Formats: sequence, structure tokens, C-alpha cells
Amino acid sequence: MLKASSIHRGFLVPAFAPLRASIWAALGLTASACGGHVTVDPASGGGEGGGATGSTGATDPAFVCDGAVPLLRPDGAHSGYARCPDGTVHRVEAVACDGWLPACQGLEDDFSCKTDADCTEKPGGMCGSYRVDNVDGPVWLCGCVYPCATDQDCNPGEACVCPSVFPTDFAFPTCVPAGCRTNDDCASGECGVSLYNDGCGVELDLACRAPGDACRTDADCKAGFEQCAAPDGEGEWACRPSSCAIGRPLAVEGRARTAGGAARSDWTSASLTPETAGLCGGVRAALAAHWRDVAALEHASIASFARFSLELLALGAPPALLAGAQQAAMDEVAHARAAYTLASAYAGAALGPGPLDVTGVAPATSAAAIVAALVEEACVGETVGAAEARALAGIVRDPALAGTYERIAEDEGRHAELGWRALAWLLRGAGHDLRAVAASAFERAVARMSADPDVAPGAVAPEHGLLSPEMMGALRRQALAEVVEPCRRALLG
Ligand SMILES: [Fe+2]
Ligand SMILES: [Fe+2]
Repeated sequence: MLKASSIHRGFLVPAFAPLRASIWAALGLTASACGGHVTVDPASGGGEGGGATGSTGATDPAFVCDGAVPLLRPDGAHSGYARCPDGTVHRVEAVACDGWLPACQGLEDDFSCKTDADCTEKPGGMCGSYRVDNVDGPVWLCGCVYPCATDQDCNPGEACVCPSVFPTDFAFPTCVPAGCRTNDDCASGECGVSLYNDGCGVELDLACRAPGDACRTDADCKAGFEQCAAPDGEGEWACRPSSCAIGRPLAVEGRARTAGGAARSDWTSASLTPETAGLCGGVRAALAAHWRDVAALEHASIASFARFSLELLALGAPPALLAGAQQAAMDEVAHARAAYTLASAYAGAALGPGPLDVTGVAPATSAAAIVAALVEEACVGETVGAAEARALAGIVRDPALAGTYERIAEDEGRHAELGWRALAWLLRGAGHDLRAVAASAFERAVARMSADPDVAPGAVAPEHGLLSPEMMGALRRQALAEVVEPCRRALLG
């Protein structure tokens, strides 16, 4: 059974962290980079390049625990932070970040400025060299940045955090959310550093600890699944889920193409027999119509993957992506058969697909068109579809229905992973133009998917998988926030 993470009008919405984790893994990122615990490494002193070696281990009255160890910057200076023996980190004093941005060397991968005078968007602009960690590896840029030096350079409610003290991807001093700036701001005397890996990146916040917090360290949370993190805004520290990853439409000129229905039984299976006794007429008719529509979309997904295979071949894709696309098409045959079986059972009459009109179903040949379609259909469409199926598997009562949703969720999760992997491959070494195409495709798809569906089922019966538009909208928005958005950020920055 899935863990319910939030409730919308009595409707339990599960957490989608495992889906995000599988997509993240498909993108080739390590568990420790995403989904693992992100507490400061006691051996390293808290971050890459950082090191607590040379610390005295002495207790200072300004620290909040016995045996607190100051965290040092890579240059050996005190960072202003200290670590307690239980691994928690707090901010003792605000130390200015200076000299963190080296001048451009002329060897960077990309240039967008020559001198500080070119950086005029905001005050304090600097033209410098910095590293960005993309999914396919680090890239060095020479560009304008607007780093903070002290907390006073940040907005109220923020603090300036130097890079290389914590395991974040900060390339230069950055303002982060801060409910406190030093221990002196907190009634408890402890301004804690929260490092929360949402599955696709690390959030760093400063927040007061309190005796009533639900947790103090990750050890207080569900091992491997949660981290102890600061609240979003007001509230107590609490365990938050960690760990990244229905149907791919056959889009033709922006519209989903499907086949009509036909009275036939060769697309049904005798091994799938949903409960129909006891269903009231309205619910049964609504279920028949719902599964007829799902079946048509699943059937069209076979063609969508066939087209995708041609596109991958045209771009010279590696064999693993081709094999994934071929396997996904086979999965869609099974999904279509299951859906036509359910539609037939609820309708009380055999139903299968009619001929599919493939006019205009041509593979795209430009990388930009393929990237845009991949983002909309796979990275957003199939990811949200997998999340929907996963949620419905935990909601419906009929074991036959739950099993169908389980199978679809598992397969669609794999299809989503394939989509993200293909996108990462397409964007590897790509210029700004292709990344911009991907970025705007995400924007369009997310905006469209964020709205409640404008079609209501014939009946609302969550226990049978019939959700209201509001329930479906809430579920989709959660999947977008928990899975699509963090993964998009990781891929595109
Ligand atoms: Fe499917
Ligand atoms: Fe799929």
C-alpha cells in the first residue's frame, strides 16, 4: 500500500518519491547525489573541498553542544558553522564570503561576458569562471554572476552561504532561505543548517531548532526514505521524503490521435476478470466508457513508440534507447489488451480497436521537434501517467483493477525513465537553442497538465478508479511538483 502524503478533499494522494528516484537513477546520477542522505559528512567537515581537519574539537560557549567542531573553508578559515557530534550543523556567526569567484581563464566551455563592466543586470555583478554540474557532466562557464558577500546583500529572511562548505551545487556565494541567520536569533540558541535532497537536488535552509521538533537527525526518520529537514516557512523540523522517476499519446498536429472502437474479442484476455456484480448502473457505464477511452489511448501509444523508434534511428541513438522504445511498444500492446478487456467486461460486450488512421503520423526529423515532443509526451505525459496509475493502484478496491494499475504504473515508470534518458542523450553537448526548446516545451506541458481536466467522468467513484476533475488535478499537480519539476531542474538547471 502506498504511503499517503497529503489529502485533498478526503482523497489520499501518495508520495511519488520512488518514481522520482527511478528516473533520477535512469539519468545516471548516483544515489548519494539524489535521494541519499545529505547530512554533512563527519569525515569531510561538510562538503567537497571542505575539511574539518585541524579543528580543535574544543567546546566553545557559542556552540550549542559539547564537542562541537568548527567547519573550515577550503582555505582553512573558519566558515562560521559548527557540527555537533550527532552530525547536525548550526551557524555560530555570519562570516563574509569573499574571493570565491576566479576570473575567466579563456578555457571555459562557454562565454557570455569579458569584464565585470558587462554585468549590469543587478548591482555587484562580476564576470567570472564557474562550474555548473549538468546531468551529463560538469561544464565551465565564463559569465555574469551576482554573488552575495554578506547576509546584508540578501533579502530579509535570507542568508548568504559560501560555496564549498556544504555539499550543494552552489558555484558562488548564494542567498538561501533563512528563518535565522545565527544561533543568537533562536530561542533555543540553535540556528540549524538543513540540507534536504528532494530527490533531484539539495535544498539548503537555515532554521531555528526547537525542543518540540519531530526529528533532529535522519536517524529519527524512516531509514532510506526520509530526511530530517527544516520546514517550508514556519513550523517544526520534520521528516521529509527523499528519493527521482498513463500513456504516451500519439500526437498529430497537436492533437491525440486514437482509433475508433470495433466489436471484436481478439484484444481481450480471459485471465482478467474485474468484479462487475454489485456495481450500480451509472458507475458501471462510466467504467465502461472510461476504459474504452483508456484502451484507445494505450493502443495509440503503440504507434507513438513506433514513430519514436524511427526518430531515434534518424538521430543515430545508442542501442539501449532503441531497445527501450521497442520494449515499450510491446508493453503498450499489453496495456491496450488489459484496457479493452476491462472496457468489454464493464460494457458486457466485446470491444477492441478499429483501424488507426496513420495519415500524418510521420517521424520528426529535426532534433528540436523531437526534443519538444519527447518533453511533452514522455518526460511530462508519461511521468504524470505513471504517477496516476501508481496512485490509483493504491485506491481501487477490486484486486483485478489494482493489479492492472500496478502493471501499468510499473511499465509507464520505465517508459518515463526512457524518455528522460533519451532527453539527456539528446541534450548532451547541445547548445543553448536546443536547451531553450526543451525549456519552453516543459513550460507548455506543465502549464497544460497543471489544470484540472475539463472532462468529468460519468460518475465519481474513487474506489473504482473514477476520480473527479479536482482529484485528478490535485494528483497531477503533486506529480509535477514532486517528480517532473525536480528532474527538469536537474537536467536543464
Ligand atoms: Fe501504456
Ligand atoms: Fe507508456
